[in-house]
Amino acid sequence: MQLRNIDIRELEKIHIGHKCIKFILRGSFSRLFLMEYSGDQYALKVKRFNVQRACEKLNFNRFSLLKLVKKMIKEAKILQQLHHRNISSIRGYSYWIAKDDKGKDFFHVHIGFPFYEKGDLTNLPYRQSEAEITDYLVQILKGLYYIHEKNIIHRNLIPHHIFRTKEGNQIVLKIGDFGS
Ligand SMILES: Nc1ncnc2c1ncn2[C@@H]1O[C@H](COP(=O)(O)OP(=O)(O)O)[C@@H](O)[C@H]1O
Ligand SMILES: [Mg+2]
Repeated sequence: MQLRNIDIRELEKIHIGHKCIKFILRGSFSRLFLMEYSGDQYALKVKRFNVQRACEKLNFNRFSLLKLVKKMIKEAKILQQLHHRNISSIRGYSYWIAKDDKGKDFFHVHIGFPFYEKGDLTNLPYRQSEAEITDYLVQILKGLYYIHEKNIIHRNLIPHHIFRTKEGNQIVLKIGDFGS
């Protein structure tokens, strides 16, 4: 099955023993898939770009290409250092260059996250109470305080980048997308 240029079977060939359950959505520079491994579900963010096209755009400047590669894996590198209840965690990541079936080089980045099943702050199911909003605000501030203490700034904190999940009987917010 071909889904928005990324073949589910291809994903399953790369991640041996993992099952791709479905395509979730398209981010600004990535696609997100729901995966399952050993009965455990997780979200897989897949980014890839055509190396030659990127080089042409960047005037074949290897330095700019390296900068682009660094930017693509920056999110994973940052998240690996962060461990906080209100910051998205990361399960692992990997990147490589491989030829596609037409012989063109593609740079790939795969990042695994826990699957935050309740979406982000743009799709709240009902009008939240004042107490819930206060709780959300406190959670966001705790996450921000933590990253600022580590001298990291988010640079793109928007409702799309604050995920919701259930822990016990509480809704916990997780700040994500540190790719900016
Ligand atoms: N771990 C996750 N669990 C559930 N939904 C997610 C997860 N990560 C991202 N999403 C959803 O996918 C959207 C795009 O993800 P994002 O990290 O912003 O990708 P991009 O780097 O392409 O902007 C988010 O706004 C959110 O709705
Ligand atoms: Mg984003």
